[in-house]
Amino acid sequence: MAMVCLSDFEAYAKKYLPKIAWDFFAAGADDCSTRDENILAYKRIHFRPRLLRDVSMMDIGTKILGTEISFPVGIAPTGFHQLAWPDGEKSTARAAKAMNTCYIASTYSTCTLEEISAAAPGGLRWFQLYIHRNRAVSQQLVQRAEALGFQGLVLTADLPYTGKRRDDVRNGFRLPPHMKLKNLEGAFEVCKMSPSFHSLLDPSVTWNDIYWLRSLTHLPIIIKGILTKEDAELAVRHGVQGIIVSNHGGRQLDGVPATIDALVEVVEAVQSRVEVYLDGGIRKGSDVLKALALGAKCVFIGRPALWGLAYKGEEGLQEVLRILQDEFRLSMALAGCASISEIGQHLVQFSKL
Ligand code: FNR
Repeated sequence: MAMVCLSDFEAYAKKYLPKIAWDFFAAGADDCSTRDENILAYKRIHFRPRLLRDVSMMDIGTKILGTEISFPVGIAPTGFHQLAWPDGEKSTARAAKAMNTCYIASTYSTCTLEEISAAAPGGLRWFQLYIHRNRAVSQQLVQRAEALGFQGLVLTADLPYTGKRRDDVRNGFRLPPHMKLKNLEGAFEVCKMSPSFHSLLDPSVTWNDIYWLRSLTHLPIIIKGILTKEDAELAVRHGVQGIIVSNHGGRQLDGVPATIDALVEVVEAVQSRVEVYLDGGIRKGSDVLKALALGAKCVFIGRPALWGLAYKGEEGLQEVLRILQDEFRLSMALAGCASISEIGQHLVQFSKL
């Protein structure tokens, strides 16, 4: 089967993954309006290409928080990679390193942070944190990540409780017995996904906890889940170094806008004081170009990375990234941009935003 675009990997994953794993990856909250809107919103944005601009030499490299990456697409944090491929997050780390991009490892990884680091030494990695009621557990995770050379701490702010994902409820989703949330092993008696597991997360977290995190680590803090100018302003005022505009792939509050529609408001509020990234609904290179045109410094993919893993592990994920990279380079060239610095709002019509 020729894999030509990301939908091909989606179709493969849907066909070959066990239904319970596919449903967990695909799930959105409630009736999935926001999940689907994340994708549809890109179709409403049109380009204003510029022509005759010498695109014979293309440079698609960029930097995030000062570190060079080969193109502005990284891997968003998602849990339980062993549901997609036996080697789990180790394969993800290797693929990200091979493609010279950033991998944000989830608190809910099925490999330890140590295994992830050892699988791809020197790769650019950030660690995503959910703050647990037992703060000592979170503190220890942050400090482990820093000691292992992770270069950023991503605080996910949109999950005080888990959104209602109907298929997971219907399927009674839980991790198979042989898979563990390895980073939390020993921390709790219940170390596998169970209906009560998420209740171990601390729903009392506030902006003041950014100061607490700051006291634990020298790592730059990136806050994930921002959708409004008010929260963007608060994030900057609390001293974060980056913002990920995200609605958790439509898995939390159903009815919030597509991330590409929320991006402009956040970018305008931030006024270049911190870097702004986006995730949600990126399925083509031209989606990446639209997000950059509207002010994102880089985007991250969630589900497509899982589809790549489900196809062929590390190799499959590399293929997904390579396809996105080729499509992005081609879209840039066809829009008349030879380097990232030439991308700007002038490239898109966005009257509906
Ligand atoms: C997620 N997401 C997520 N986010 C996070 O901060 N920590 C996590 O552990 C997870 N886990 C997770 C599992 C699965 C199966 C999915 C689909 C998503 C959200 C993720 O980081 C990201 O915001 C979205 O996946 C982006 O949307 P797309 O690219 O999947 O459309």
